[in-house]
Amino acid sequence: MNLIFLGAPGAGKGTQAKRVMEKYKIPQVSTGDILREAVKNNTPLGQKAQEFMNKGLLVPDGIVIGIIEETLKDTSFSKGFILDGFPRTIPQAESLDKVLAKLSINLDYVINFQIVEEVLIKRLSGRRVCRECGQLYNIYFNPPIKENYCNQCGQELYQRKDDNIETIRERLKVYDVQTAPLIEYYENKRKLFTIDGNNEQGYIFSQLCNFLEN
Ligand code: AP5
Ligand code: MG
Repeated sequence: MNLIFLGAPGAGKGTQAKRVMEKYKIPQVSTGDILREAVKNNTPLGQKAQEFMNKGLLVPDGIVIGIIEETLKDTSFSKGFILDGFPRTIPQAESLDKVLAKLSINLDYVINFQIVEEVLIKRLSGRRVCRECGQLYNIYFNPPIKENYCNQCGQELYQRKDDNIETIRERLKVYDVQTAPLIEYYENKRKLFTIDGNNEQGYIFSQLCNFLEN
């Protein structure tokens, strides 16, 4: 199954992608994770992307389209893929259409996680991530058993650099202006399935599974 996860920062794309990946063995391709890894390793890509990410702005289309094109070309996705956080602009969506057509890959669904803005600030400012395995936590909604350490692998948690109030506000603005138009784009293509992202994680996941299996 070839899926796109669409939604505002903090909507729960990464959280649900990890659960889908575990249950259905469909790999998650997160442009945010790929870019953060490049920044951590100080690669040429990371050096270019860093200043945009720290300001809460989108990395230029050409760069992220290149990443996705290479990933889709070079990896065999026998069970499909989940694109988490890509596309995020209309030009990215149009480029993706072309890349998929060229590789004869069909896009099945775009899952749109819809959410009220008020809760996003708490979700993002409270997010903690495992340095080792990438497991997601939230100090308000989903805290680890031992403060600041991962339940799964025991490693220390960290807070993303862009999860501060000022940058969060910028990211939400960028989403409204540049990414939200994709809802209509995929509605017109009859690919969109909207899920209420305000619910509890497990409930959202059960709705998602229901949709994917029926
Ligand atoms: P990216 O890493 O994709 O960040 P984002 O879009 O801002 O989304 P997030 O990862 O913040 O949110 P999420 O929806 O995954 O939520 P999560 O599941 O973690 O991108 C980062 C940056 O990279 C961008 O700003 C940009 O600069 C660049 N970039 C990436 N892709 C790009 C592209 N295509 N083009 C250009 N630039 C690009 O959940 C959040 C928190 O809430 C967690 O703490 C979690 O535990 C909690 N939570 C989740 N679900 C629930 C629930 N149901 N109830 C309560 N808490 C919940
Ligand atoms: Mg994410």
